Amino acid sequence: MKKKFFTLAALSLCMTLAVAQTINLPAPNKSKKTATVMEALATRHSERAFSPQKLTDQELSDLLWAACGKNREDGKLTAPTAMNRQEIRVFVFTDSKVSEYLPQTNQLRQVATGDHRGIVAGRQEFAKSAPVSLVIVADMDKFKSNDQRAQTMVSVDAGIVCQNINIYCEAVGLVTVPRATMDHDAIRKLLGLNENQIPLLNNPVGYKAK
Ligand SMILES: Cc1cc2nc3c(=O)[nH]c(=O)nc-3n(C[C@H](O)[C@H](O)[C@H](O)COP(=O)(O)O)c2cc1C
Repeated sequence: MKKKFFTLAALSLCMTLAVAQTINLPAPNKSKKTATVMEALATRHSERAFSPQKLTDQELSDLLWAACGKNREDGKLTAPTAMNRQEIRVFVFTDSKVSEYLPQTNQLRQVATGDHRGIVAGRQEFAKSAPVSLVIVADMDKFKSNDQRAQTMVSVDAGIVCQNINIYCEAVGLVTVPRATMDHDAIRKLLGLNENQIPLLNNPVGYKAK
């Protein structure tokens, strides 16, 4: 009886901790004042030097929503995906934790604690200094196929999310660079990805270094 009680208590503690590690982001500010699409396209460029200034939760929410947030009642996203498979997953690396963005609930689900931006930077040290790095992962299990055509489609889908990030950053005065460089093996290990879940691109994001 005693054993059963402790098992139940431990189970409920685990569930509480799991819930505590999923946080609600502020609602994205869709009426935020930004440059126009044409202005952002006119100046869009890559930056590789970042200020240490952190993003607020509101800025992070707006950025993630622009990347691939839910923008319609039927659950579709700001970034289209082939056959609406929604197989692109975005992981957020900061100086204190790594979380997965959950577009349908506008939440961050913590997957690791600590500063792991170094494995996103890989051999390009500069990327470590961005306060946030977004890692774009294609989940072939969600795509429901792994043949060559599927691999092409998920790469296109990842590119669209990446370009949403690039244009959004330009429009709001943040800077970024789309990158394929990263320590793929270390990222796979940290995020617990299987062979069908492939880190394809990343975007370090922050304010421009002064
Ligand atoms: C798919 C892709 C992968 C890239 N990978 C890297 C990278 O690993 N490291 C890097 O510093 N820049 C990377 N870039 C950025 C390009 O070097 C950059 O976009 C290009 O030089 C043009 O400069 P611009 O973005 O300022 O127009 C990548 C760009 C793309 C589209």
